[in-house]
Amino acid sequence: MASLSGKRITLIITGSIAAYKALELIRLLAKAGASVEGVLTQGGAAFITPLSVEALTGKPAHTAMWDERSYEMNHIELSRRADLIVIAPATAGIIAKLANGIGDDLASSVLLAKNKPVLLAPSMNTEMWENAAFRRNLAQAQADGATLVPPQTDTLACGETGIGKMAEPATILAAIEAHFQAAETLSGKTAIVTSGGTIERIDSVRYISNFSSGKQGNAIALALAQAGAKVSLVVGNTKEPAPQHPNIEALPVESAAEMKAAVEAKLPADIFVGCAAVCDFRVSNKADKKLKKEGGLDLQFEENPDIAKSVGTLPKEKRPQLVIGFAAETDDLIAYAQKKRASKGCDLIVANDVSQGAVFGQDQNTVHFVTKDSVQTLDTLPKSQVAAAILNWIRERL
Ligand code: C5P
Repeated sequence: MASLSGKRITLIITGSIAAYKALELIRLLAKAGASVEGVLTQGGAAFITPLSVEALTGKPAHTAMWDERSYEMNHIELSRRADLIVIAPATAGIIAKLANGIGDDLASSVLLAKNKPVLLAPSMNTEMWENAAFRRNLAQAQADGATLVPPQTDTLACGETGIGKMAEPATILAAIEAHFQAAETLSGKTAIVTSGGTIERIDSVRYISNFSSGKQGNAIALALAQAGAKVSLVVGNTKEPAPQHPNIEALPVESAAEMKAAVEAKLPADIFVGCAAVCDFRVSNKADKKLKKEGGLDLQFEENPDIAKSVGTLPKEKRPQLVIGFAAETDDLIAYAQKKRASKGCDLIVANDVSQGAVFGQDQNTVHFVTKDSVQTLDTLPKSQVAAAILNWIRERL
């Protein structure tokens, strides 16, 4: 059977000289069994004609929000009936729209209305690729769930040499095949991921929390979702938006008690990853109204339930097959992580050293995988790659 047999791809072609290579990509996709529907931006249609796209896809090529040929809501339908949305070539402009939620033409509105994964193959001049605003947009698009097929370094159409040439159609095809293969490795599995910090109220306007950014937990949820698992992302206090993927259900919570209840409501599950920085204590005498300073402050605390432990120590028939916890420590990292693994009933503890104030809010992390029998230290990696390593660890065991 062809590698992409039965897969439906909406291909967005934006305004770059590499647009002509999108035609070759359509041919390769069709050969691999995929059915492709083309969307051209005004810029895309300046480089190649919708007619060429129609001829190769065998379907109408779309350029306008409102199509004279039908009453369909094009932007909604083009997202709904695809398994994957591919942007090739992807200009800095479309990536900026994707990252910032701008829908001012058909292509960007498809991306805004999307409920499907997105894969993008950028094409631009090196200066644009390296531009700080573009880097922010690309990072945001990736954090929101887009898969990047990186550009090549070569002589560019503008005559300059550097990074920015779109990946070859064969490379983009391979990335699309890898996307669908990966999407099947955990299909049928369910996962619960906790992320962010919890908030413990003091009174009606004040709270206690911590500096957890939620970046690592969100990256893990996304990696699991991209691998095909249905993920419940129980997310506490974080500035990061939850990654958008059809396999992710984001469940916002505030306190540790709410987080525990949300986790329990989603059990049974195959995988549990406790990445949240749960406050160890809550205020037992919290006030319903704003406290006045004249009254002094007399806070009393009680211990919060340990969510990871409550999941890790469930009886075998109810316990997720894999339970993973985190340990952030300032000293004796491995020894504490090993103790935590045993006491919380986790299969794996991902340990990180927070003694230098590092980790919280950062994009990189240096972690150690601590299991019953081994300690493995990983290189310093972007949090997305730490998530990929955790995903691999899970894949090998499920
Ligand atoms: O004991 P400590 O807070 O260092 O443990 C960290 C690990 O336990 C993390 O995986 C965290 O998500 C989890 N945890 C929890 N509930 C708590 C405290 C920690 O799930 N109340």
